[in-house]
Order: sequence, then structure tokens, then C-alpha cells
Amino acid sequence: MNPDDVHADDASLARILRYHEETKHGFHRFAASSGYLDWSTQPDPFRRYAGARHIPLTLSRQCDKPYAALYQNNVVPSPLNPESISRFFRFGLGLAAWKSFQGSRWALRVNPSSGNLHPSEAYVLLPKTGAEIETPGAFHYSPADHALECRAELDAALLSEVLRPFPADSFLLGLSSILWREAWKYGERAFRYCQHDAGHALAALRLSAALLGWGLWLLPRWGDAASVFGLDRRDDFHAEEPETLDWVAVVAPAAATVDVSLPPPGGDTLTQIQELDWCGRANALSPGHTHWPLAAQALADTHGALNPQCIGRPDGAGPLALIADHPAEDLLLQRRSAVAFDGVSACASADFFRLLETSLPTNTPPWDALWWRPSVHLAIFVHRVRDVSPGLYLLVREPGTETALRAALTSHRSWDAVPGAPNHLPLYCLAKGDMQDRAALLSCQQAIAGDSFFSLGMIAEFESSLQTLGASFYRNLFWEAGVIGQVLYLEAEAIGARATGIGCYFDDPVHELLGIQDHSFQSLYHFTVGFPVEDTRLTTLPPYTV
Ligand SMILES: Cc1cc2nc3c(=O)[nH]c(=O)nc-3n(C[C@H](O)[C@H](O)[C@H](O)COP(=O)(O)O)c2cc1C
Repeated sequence: MNPDDVHADDASLARILRYHEETKHGFHRFAASSGYLDWSTQPDPFRRYAGARHIPLTLSRQCDKPYAALYQNNVVPSPLNPESISRFFRFGLGLAAWKSFQGSRWALRVNPSSGNLHPSEAYVLLPKTGAEIETPGAFHYSPADHALECRAELDAALLSEVLRPFPADSFLLGLSSILWREAWKYGERAFRYCQHDAGHALAALRLSAALLGWGLWLLPRWGDAASVFGLDRRDDFHAEEPETLDWVAVVAPAAATVDVSLPPPGGDTLTQIQELDWCGRANALSPGHTHWPLAAQALADTHGALNPQCIGRPDGAGPLALIADHPAEDLLLQRRSAVAFDGVSACASADFFRLLETSLPTNTPPWDALWWRPSVHLAIFVHRVRDVSPGLYLLVREPGTETALRAALTSHRSWDAVPGAPNHLPLYCLAKGDMQDRAALLSCQQAIAGDSFFSLGMIAEFESSLQTLGASFYRNLFWEAGVIGQVLYLEAEAIGARATGIGCYFDDPVHELLGIQDHSFQSLYHFTVGFPVEDTRLTTLPPYTV
């Protein structure tokens, strides 16, 4: 689809297609950015609300659930109290470590982030849950000190009205992005990275909820509900650092039934929320800013409610062959991005197949958080997997899309079965051969894409899904890619390896390799898994001092 062919009344769809084109990296042109890092304006990675009541969350003992519990809805639900809220955030979005080198220090978190810039911020609408959280309210999560900041107190009747359509013991969770944090480094392409990060955060929170016996469901019609979390209060934010709502989810005991098509509150209820006594002013993150108009426009064009007309939750059962003996919370805290791979180690084919299997959509966490038909597939460059020939492979994550994929990937007409792969894994070999240099080149010449066991491009069903669901669905495609990435990060740790998300890749050269000649499918995220080489110059410090 050419951006100019879109019907005139769908200007936002035309603009988002243009944004996608303009923010492609190519061999001869990178998407616009400043091209250097202005350290004097580096954004503060931590949001704080001066004047908001600060509620420290206790750093409780870990709960020793096995790793497999992350992917299965089989934990007895924890009651909603400060202890469970603390665990939910600590193992969802909390700090995992501090790193230091030559006098500088930076925090790493449970969720990864492009450039470690962390544009995502989380908010909850909670009932009174104990002495520390003594009134129902709207709270911001502060990972720096593992605390909640109370932005507004709600009376119990108002909160009940907001939560009335949802099951008992529910609460609302909102995730926002501060575009400036990513744009500072990445310019116009930053909007894409914010959305990847929102997907990683979604998976991280969904899996953390699973350890508490809770479910988490995205609410597609709540994209406009910024005021529920006080994010519409422009005067509370620096004008150059707007914080925009990405997604809203309801969290409830996992066995509950949730109607995800419910709309957000309107009328009197909404007015009452807007007229609450909102406290605190968001800290300014940088002393100076550069405006990136395309990214800002993309935010505006993809903002808003989606009509969940294409609810396509997968019903397949969860993966069977999980490694069960790691304590889940240890694994969540140890996740890191590799900065280099050794370029020689190979992984067992059984590990490779299981990693791919855990990326398949099922009716279990984290996939049960998503309401749409799975839209992202994996084009895999196999480099070092024992008993699997090096080459280019394709994992079809949604069988209904196979025909369209076969038509779109015009360079590869033979799709061969992969010897040794489980029968239920829709994995095909498209071409055999050494792909190390090609993979590294396509990922902006990053060696991590070639020195690994395998790397991959996430190929999204693009044109048809945006035409059906509208420009806002552009975000969802990145979220799905981020969820896949989060699962691969954790699975890599579980097999004693390490992974890295790759946002820098050459878009159209990837499409050319696959033979994609139109917008039917587009590569939205790259990823790599291998045996890491640690940077021994860095010192690791604990995330929180108790
Ligand atoms: C969306 C996304 C894109 C990324 N792109 C790259 C990349 O192109 N190259 C790279 O070396 N690391 C990349 N990373 C890894 C980040 O640099 C890493 O997550 C960040 O430094 C935080 O470190 P941690 O993952 O160990 O917590 C990416 C991560 C994400 C989530």
C-alpha cells in the first residue's frame, strides 16, 4: 500500500505509513536523529512527582516459585495487599542491579529498554489495600526507590464505580511513554522504540502477575483514558516532555472472566476523576530539548481507543517442555542484554526448538494479555545450533497467515521441514548457508547478530492489520514484538545463554532478502541469542539497599 493511496478520510493511517517509511534505516540513509549525544541534556531515567505522598514498598523475601510458574496460570491468587503490589512491581518493572564503571553508575531493570533510556512509566488505580495504602487512589510506581507516589486519593464509592464492570479484587494498570527520553538519542525512530519497550514492560508485568496468581488483560477501548491516571493534566508536566498513555490493563485473579471490550468510564464518573485533588508535579527530565515532529505526529496518529473487532486470543495450551528448576524470581532479576557473544559456542537443537516453542502464542501468560490475533512471525538466521544447518528459517506463529506469508516471501519458494523439530512447531527452512555476515550487516553491522547461536527479524502482518484495525494498531504490532522479545530474553537465561533486543536494523534490505515487495509484511524488531562475553570492567551492585 502506498501512503498516498489511502482513503482521504483516513489521514492518520496515511501518516503512520509515511512515518514508518521515513523512519526506516537503510544502507545509505539512517532515520533522522541528532547523530550525536548531547550529554548536557541527557534525560533523567526516573520520574518523580514532587509533592505527592511517597509510599515505600517493602522489599519482601522472594517467593521461590519455579520458572515454569511464569507461563502457567496455576498459582493460588495472592490477596491484594501492599506485599503483593510490591512483588508485582519489583519483579515486573523494578531495578535488577546497578552497574558502575570509572565513577559512573547506571541502573538496570527487570524490563529492558532501547539504549537503557526507559521511556515507560506505570500507574495503578488501587483500592485500600492495607495500612500503607490507606485510601483508594491513583498511584505512580517509582522504580528508583521501589515506592508508590499517590497522585490522587479516590473515595471508595468512586473507585467501585470505575471497577464495577470488572471481577472482584481487580485493579487498573496503565503504562505511558515519555517520548523525549528515547528521542534524545534516537530522534524520529524513537516512537518505535517506545512501543517496543511498552511491549517488553507488558510481558514483564504479565509474568510478574502470574507469580501472584493474577491475570492481566489489555483493554483496547481504554487508549483514551489518560485522565484516569492524571496523565491529561498538562500543567503537571514539562511542556517538552509530555507523557502519553500507551495501554491500560485490568489485573485480577487469573481464573476471573474479563470482558476486554468494556469501555472506560465516561460522564459523571470521568468528571469526578478529573476533578480529584491531583497532587505532585512531574520532575523536569532535561534542561533542553529537540523536537522530533514525525515521532510526535506518530504518537498523535496512533493515540486512542481501538475497537476490538478482531479479538483473536489463541486457545492453544502452554508450552510443555519448560525448564522447571530455576527459581522464577532469580531468573527475572538476572535477565540482561548481552553486549558481545563468543562467536564459537553452539546451543543444543532441543534448546533452540524450546525457545521457539515458548514464543508461540497460547492461552497462558504472557500471551493471554493480548486480545488480537497473533500478527508477528520470526525470520531466523541460524548460525550455531547443533544438528540444525546454518541458514534462513521461518517460524509461522499464526497458522492462518501461512498462505499470505508464502505469497509475500517471493525469494523463497521452497519451505522445507526441519529435521528433528517437534511436529507442532511450524518451522520451515527457507535457505541453507552461512548467514553470519549477512545477519550482522542487516542489524546495522552489529556483530551480536552474527556471533550468536541465532538472530532473527520479527516480521509483522502489516498492511492488512492496519487497514482492518486502524493506525493505532501500529503500536500493538510493536507491543507483540516486545512480548516475544521478553520471552526470548528469559528463555535465553534459562538455558544458560543471553539475548539482546536489536532496534537498529536496515528495514528494506531485510525485506529484500526475504523477497517482500510491498507492505504486506514488515520487519519490526530484531533479536539475537548466544553465549555472552561479559564486560569484566564493570562492577555490579545490588538494586536496592535494605
Ligand atoms: C527495543 C530495544 C532495542 C534494542 N536495540 C539494541 C541494539 O540495537 N543494539 C544493542 O546492542 N542493544 C540493544 N538493546 C538492548 C539495550 O541496550 C538494553 O536493554 C539496555 O542497555 C538495558 O540493559 P539490560 O537489557 O541488560 O537491562 C535494545 C533493547 C530494546 C528493548
